Amino acid sequence: MAKDAVSRFVRANQIVGLGSGSTAAHIVREMANLKDKNSILCIPTSLQIKVEAEKAGLQFADEGHISDVDVVFDGADQIDAKFNMIKGGGGALLREKILISSAKTVVIVADQSKFVKSFSRPIPIEVHPMARTSVAKKLKEAGGSPVLRTLDKGYPFITENGNIILDTVFSSIIDPKKAELELKGIAGVMEVGLFCRAADSYYVAKEDGTFEIVRP
Ligand code: A5P
Repeated sequence: MAKDAVSRFVRANQIVGLGSGSTAAHIVREMANLKDKNSILCIPTSLQIKVEAEKAGLQFADEGHISDVDVVFDGADQIDAKFNMIKGGGGALLREKILISSAKTVVIVADQSKFVKSFSRPIPIEVHPMARTSVAKKLKEAGGSPVLRTLDKGYPFITENGNIILDTVFSSIIDPKKAELELKGIAGVMEVGLFCRAADSYYVAKEDGTFEIVRP
């Protein structure tokens, strides 16, 4: 599947955005085999995927000077029937949202189990530490139940941008796009793990090892 995705979407001289997580790592390992890989410049969304890309011998772009990305490969935590996504399970949502918003082509690779009728997991919301309490209050007023993401020993999980994450359950989200904009509008919210720009292609990995490509 990773081989198909890389050969179908990556061309010489492109700027390639690398999402985070185990699925994105498969793509990066496949990119190691590209014969034009020295002409390709990557933008990683986390240290996790940056380390993978370094191991794969990939080159990096000067990201501050790039306004358009040719293709972004990423995973997802859940994808609903309208191809809205929840992302941020690994905490890389802010950089993932930036890359996806400036990508010409977005390719999502995910297990079949992540494709659901409607969302059933918390939405990761990246919050400036100073706004921890005020944002939590506003999320509760909006019908959410925010929980501070912590590491095993109880320390707060800190994103690579120095922020915290409030994983927030909402009983139902009728209009994900509207919810994304409203949550993003709360002062102190740095990014919301609702991704309502549909990708161009979804690779659905099936249990039997086969895959399907879905284009919304
Ligand atoms: C990273 O913050 C997330 O958005 C990942 O893309 C998501 O958690 C998928 O990860 P896996 O590919 O490891 O399931």
